[in-house]
Amino acid sequence: MRTRPKSPRQVTRRQGMHEHGTCAARPAPTGAFPHRMLLRQLRSGAACLGAGLAALLLAGAAAAFDLQGHRGARGHAPENTLAAFRTALAMGVHTLELDVHVTRDGEVVVTHDPRLNAAFTRDASGRWIDEPGPAIIQSTLAELQRHDVGRARPGSRYLQQWPEQRSSDGERLPTLSALFDEVARRGAGAVRFNIETKLNPTTPELTPEAEPFAKAVLDVVRKHGMATRVTIQSFDWRTLAVVQRLAPEIPTVALSAQQKFLDNIADGRWTAGQTLAAHDGSLPRMVKAAGAAIWSPFHGDLTEALLAEARALGLKVVPWTVNDPAVIERLLDWRVDGLISDYPDRVRVAMAKRGMALPPPLH
Ligand code: G3P
Ligand code: CA
Repeated sequence: MRTRPKSPRQVTRRQGMHEHGTCAARPAPTGAFPHRMLLRQLRSGAACLGAGLAALLLAGAAAAFDLQGHRGARGHAPENTLAAFRTALAMGVHTLELDVHVTRDGEVVVTHDPRLNAAFTRDASGRWIDEPGPAIIQSTLAELQRHDVGRARPGSRYLQQWPEQRSSDGERLPTLSALFDEVARRGAGAVRFNIETKLNPTTPELTPEAEPFAKAVLDVVRKHGMATRVTIQSFDWRTLAVVQRLAPEIPTVALSAQQKFLDNIADGRWTAGQTLAAHDGSLPRMVKAAGAAIWSPFHGDLTEALLAEARALGLKVVPWTVNDPAVIERLLDWRVDGLISDYPDRVRVAMAKRGMALPPPLH
């Protein structure tokens, strides 16, 4: 009889049980994560519970923390390219974080900026493009894909910012569809996608409106049967409202920043009518009222008190974009639900130190 190959997640579960399977109960050390305590209890009682039930519970506990590779793994590979997503998969992440825009001919492309970014884009003749680059919304997919986005421009501030980023000449702006295909080809059947709709209410001329933007993304997600493996995130909460209405099965993620570089919470144009004033100054309550399942604050805005408040409201909290090892450690100590990082490898090191289940590397 032929047996079906195991998914990476099944293999991980089994390995976890094999490595830790014992009936000897051990006390949980002070400060242990709740899911680690659960894992410990499950390990010690696995035989009594029955392997099937324990495996199920272990899987649930292991899935509790969400390691996300930001723009793939921007610290190591050209952002939002297939090379970056392959790099993240090879390191091992639960989720690929990515940004999307819509082209003039209606294609959903994976890219952060509303224009081709002169810091890492060369034209068909190999010449570095000038600022401002062509707008995504005014270009066809074919026009955009004539450009190479696989190398940071020598002497640029961008290159200084990402000194470990390895070039990958020839990378093109991928479509969302191509990313789904690539991940399927690699057999990464458990990897999830945190898709950010890059709308900006202060520059409406650079994107479709919220509804057609969200619809374009949902069309691709559904065409690929990915609704169960996707979250939709945005600083522009109007998109989240559209997704909640058209695809209630897809969890939405409210992004927030209360910083000089961006404050989407103080400017009602970003938040679909929600204001802090209407929620007694509570951002977690504002996120909850916006219908999001997950709150992703800028890491520097998060406090332990806000985390506790959000949790009490039933929200998951996944801060962005956390690259400093000391901050990674602090947020893991606080027991956030996940971390978005340009360096998933750094988060993995901190997770391993704590005995947290690591997503398997996929080559
Ligand atoms: O996931 C949120 C994070 O990606 C937001 O920042 O500007 O890198 O898209 P940004
Ligand atoms: Ca993003």
